[in-house]
Amino acid sequence: MCGIVGAVAQRNVVPVLLEGLSRLEYRGYDSAGLVVVRDGKLERVRSIGRVAELTEKSKNTRGLIGIAHTRWATHGAPSERNAHPHISKNHIAVVHNGIIENYEALRTRLTAAGYEFTSDTDTEVIGHLIHSHYARGNSLLSATQAALKELVGAYAIGVIAADNPDQIICARRGSPLLLGVSDSEYFIASDVSALLPVTRRVVYLEEGDVAEVGRGGYRIFDATGKRAERAVQTSELSEESVQLGEYKHYMQKEIHEQPQALADTLESVCNSQTLVPGIFGAEAAATFACIDSVLILACGTSYHAGLVARYWLEEIAGIRCNVEVASEYRYRTSVPNPKSLVVVVSQSGETADTQAALSHAKKLGHDHTLAICNVPESALVRLCKLRMLTRAGPEIGVASTKAFTTQLAALFLLTLVLAKQRGRLTAQQEQQHLHELRHLPGATQKVLELEPHIARLAKQFAGKQHALFLGRGLHYPIALEGALKLKEISYIHAEAYPAGELKHGPLALVDKDMPVISVAPNDALLEKLKSNLQEVRARGGELYVFADANTHIREADGIHIMQMPEHAGYLSPILHTIPLQLLAYYVALQKGTDVDKPRNLAKSVTVE
Ligand code: G6P
Repeated sequence: MCGIVGAVAQRNVVPVLLEGLSRLEYRGYDSAGLVVVRDGKLERVRSIGRVAELTEKSKNTRGLIGIAHTRWATHGAPSERNAHPHISKNHIAVVHNGIIENYEALRTRLTAAGYEFTSDTDTEVIGHLIHSHYARGNSLLSATQAALKELVGAYAIGVIAADNPDQIICARRGSPLLLGVSDSEYFIASDVSALLPVTRRVVYLEEGDVAEVGRGGYRIFDATGKRAERAVQTSELSEESVQLGEYKHYMQKEIHEQPQALADTLESVCNSQTLVPGIFGAEAAATFACIDSVLILACGTSYHAGLVARYWLEEIAGIRCNVEVASEYRYRTSVPNPKSLVVVVSQSGETADTQAALSHAKKLGHDHTLAICNVPESALVRLCKLRMLTRAGPEIGVASTKAFTTQLAALFLLTLVLAKQRGRLTAQQEQQHLHELRHLPGATQKVLELEPHIARLAKQFAGKQHALFLGRGLHYPIALEGALKLKEISYIHAEAYPAGELKHGPLALVDKDMPVISVAPNDALLEKLKSNLQEVRARGGELYVFADANTHIREADGIHIMQMPEHAGYLSPILHTIPLQLLAYYVALQKGTDVDKPRNLAKSVTVE
């Protein structure tokens, strides 16, 4: 979604801004822009489309201070006039991530006060509001602070003024923002990866913070306006972790990183002989002792991870579990249970709906909260009492891959720890699970060997309009995830069903043009699944079956088999996810789509 970069230095900052924006491209955007102060005037360049076009258009732009933005349209279509930065009276320039909920009322008021609106965005009110305070003689800092008091909604902003070539004012509430610190050069960004070429030393702003950033340093003020100290941290993100290397796309790279990502996520557990609640935080043992159920809240792929976890938690730990799409939970009237452990699952830790669902749960009296998240400094991690960090490393491809499988690993650990605490795990079972977890990265590596086979198979999907995914039990959410991957990046309409539901509707769609992809683990439901597959075959449907060894499902006319390894028991969903990711990837390649940045989608959905 939208990205912010800003810089104040002794050199031309335009290359820094453009490089920063290109590193934020993965978040998804449809237009981009930048503004600098040059000879006491604001010089702005905006373009629709990619950062490369903005770079071309900014060839002659120079300035020692500037702010820049990639925009993912919310209020107003993707167009140059709606692209940020927005400028008030040729004087104040603003970039903004988030949504201003009371913008209509503010717009009416500011229009009456003589401000002219040139875009359809909610952002434009921010610039005019700041200008209205600045014009009354306030400093840029106080004018911004005063304006922020009038805003309802979520924001991370960067502000500069034509007559102030030395300062960027920035602020955050509900959207992330950080400062980058270097020798006599200071930066702002919505994501640390934007700043890696210039600095690794960063200061994360907290909710409600406002900062004044100049060449000589910076000052931070908290939500009440008091001076605040925030620690300078050294980001561990490495350059290689955000480079493509030998791969064609980030998605392909990230699929291949899964063995390592799983090994990293499981490291502390696999090096130990026993499972302890402490991996979820110091208060975990006490918290887990007083819960009687689990409520998982998440969006998109992370929601699918939650759906798998429900099978594990109820079967292995014997604890009741509900899983809800965050955007539904936050608005429905539910029956709170203060003894429930609320688990938010999120790659980014920024997703607006998941954050809102967490605060809704807290308002309903849920005190026991756990974040399973890939970004240590994220809002969700900060807002929860307990945490388990997945260690997938930065995920750049919009379609989530390694974040999903590492979330599954973390949720499986949660299951085991709760099962142990509830007396449902013998010492022998604990050792057996630990043994299987240690083998998981290796088993994942083996599944990746299917890649050439899947690449060949994908050719058969290029001309298809629809696809049906089937799974049962633990693997039904994997079918959902497979369908989501395919539709996200290949734009083929894909749906997933629990195979037993086939005859209650989707069978009507099956004919020779409908590929049916089935996840076929060698588990207790295999024979049932085989009958469902017969139902498809009898209607002329083409079957693509990802079958474990010893399932005895044979290749035949209209039945294509992808041979998976031995059945991996409870961890099987992790292994079965990988070929479905590869299938989506190679079908997208066939179709020539923008794999890492599929149309209309964003990596982190920081608005509602
Ligand atoms: C977006 C991304 C998905 C992701 C979802 C939830 O839709 O494109 O890949 O699964 O948000 O994101 P989160 O960061 O909360 O896991």
